[in-house]
Amino acid sequence: MCFFVAKDLSATIAGMQISEELRRRFAEAQRVLVLTGAGISAESGVPTFRGGGNTAVWKGMRFDVISSAEMVERDLPAVWEWFDYRRDFMDSILPNPAHYEIARWQEQFSTLTLATQNIDGLHQKAGSRNVIELHGNIWRARCTACRSSYDMSQGPRPDGCLECGDRLRPDVVLFGEMLPPGAFEFAVERAAECDLCFVIGTSALVYPAAGLPEIAKRAGAYVCEVNPELTPLSDLCDEVLMGKAGEVLPLIGR
Ligand code: APR
Repeated sequence: MCFFVAKDLSATIAGMQISEELRRRFAEAQRVLVLTGAGISAESGVPTFRGGGNTAVWKGMRFDVISSAEMVERDLPAVWEWFDYRRDFMDSILPNPAHYEIARWQEQFSTLTLATQNIDGLHQKAGSRNVIELHGNIWRARCTACRSSYDMSQGPRPDGCLECGDRLRPDVVLFGEMLPPGAFEFAVERAAECDLCFVIGTSALVYPAAGLPEIAKRAGAYVCEVNPELTPLSDLCDEVLMGKAGEVLPLIGR
């Protein structure tokens, strides 16, 4: 494993060395897996949950309290208030160079699989297609009973499910909940067959998502982490680029 750490951020662009090994693997790769977390949206102004960005708290409640399955049962209107606030905040948020770079990569490889833990929709806004949304999407609501889904990017959600009349909830994975059926399983398949894996802007503390790079590594892929801080995954990685995604990613394919 090799580290590339710059003394100060301004040197990152200038001082950041992308290894010949990574350049070669990037040029030759066929099947690439990209796993992203909140850090990739930090330069767009979206608070991260942990790590180098500022941490989210709502009305004195920690994010893992207000964003929990238990809170949906106890006080769904409060959960909606939190997610409506976040969605309104996201309305003016734009993708950053890291999102656009990954969207560009999808034209470069025979298979690019993008799995994100983010619910902000910024990858799609930057032009990424077929994004595996491991934790759902803040722009959708779904029925608590029949799971009918409602897109809120075009307008407000209905008061209740139009199919069965039951209550609607945010279509995101809350603490204490399973991932959307099929999403993780599909990402595991791609991780097990990729030859290059990028882990970008995640603290790698939340499973099962953080297990994907481990699967890729076991399958023989070259694993590269991009994060201004070390994570529990850093030791497993073949290369760790310690910098901001928006500054580092554009360097990789150049
Ligand atoms: N570029 C790259 N990485 C960054 C940047 C940046 N500009 N800024 C911060 N980071 C890194 C931090 O160092 C940290 O390691 O991003 C990571 C953000 O970690 P978390 O806040 O824990 O976010 P994430 O890993 O996505 O959390 C996983 O936990 O809270 C739940 O459901 C939520 O999807 C989320 C999951």
